[in-house]
Amino acid sequence: MAFHLRRAWRALWSDPPAPPPPTADAPPSSRDLKAVNVAYVEGVKASMPHARAMEYAIGDGFELIGGMEAALVRHYGLPQDGYLVDVGCGAGRLAKPLSAWLKGRYLGFDLVPDLVAHAQTIAARPDWRFEVIDHIGIPAADGQADMVCFFSVLTHLLHEQSYWYLEEARRVLKPGGRIVLSFLEFREPGHLPIFQATLAGAKAQVVAPMNVFLERVALEVFARELNLSIVEFRDGGDHIVPEGNLGQALCVLEKPA
Ligand SMILES: C[S@@+](CC[C@H](N)C(=O)[O-])C[C@H]1O[C@@H](n2cnc3c(N)ncnc32)[C@H](O)[C@@H]1O
Repeated sequence: MAFHLRRAWRALWSDPPAPPPPTADAPPSSRDLKAVNVAYVEGVKASMPHARAMEYAIGDGFELIGGMEAALVRHYGLPQDGYLVDVGCGAGRLAKPLSAWLKGRYLGFDLVPDLVAHAQTIAARPDWRFEVIDHIGIPAADGQADMVCFFSVLTHLLHEQSYWYLEEARRVLKPGGRIVLSFLEFREPGHLPIFQATLAGAKAQVVAPMNVFLERVALEVFARELNLSIVEFRDGGDHIVPEGNLGQALCVLEKPA
């Protein structure tokens, strides 16, 4: 079975380069988060130079989107001497632009070792932590982080996995700390092509990281169950920061002080 579906959300952010050729041999299940993400990156690596593959594999638009992500965490209150946890840090699209500004702590982690190694190299911050994990969980102590961000990560998880991660985020946040997450939703017409591409992939029995839509009502229920307050929802097209809009919707949650 062919293994490859370009990450469909890429369409929101940039013109997609040609997809890498399919790899052969027993593709993993889309629900095996580690295996499917590692295999996806291996497929990309097989078709372009390593550094380029690292940027392509996490959705490209590296400088543009990275600049937006860095501006967003600042906009939503990350202190310059604060502690940011970057879940699914990928190849360092956020870590790189943040490295020149954030004087405080940073933990970035992901399932894919190659991506984490690249992020660590380009961030060039020996004082920051980069980790590889195997499934779901934040490798950090309770109650220390000022902010936990999920940029285009819950877009690839089942609802129960997203809830699990929000539970983890709440655990590691300080009282008053915030969660910033991006998501795909059916109320946004601009997200429909992603669903259609995902449907086409399903019909073709393509195995790839999942694309999952997460509606606001689900996030409201998750927030209520986890005793998190909703700071705001923003549409994908909103210009929240001058650097531009992500395309994905945003949700900001807060742990009670
Ligand atoms: C679309 S990329 C976004 C990367 C990064 N957040 C950014 O905006 O550049 C999604 C990333 O989430 C990672 N990922 C997927 N499931 C994960 C999980 N359960 N835990 C940690 N990272 C995960 C993938 O390996 C991939 O690097």
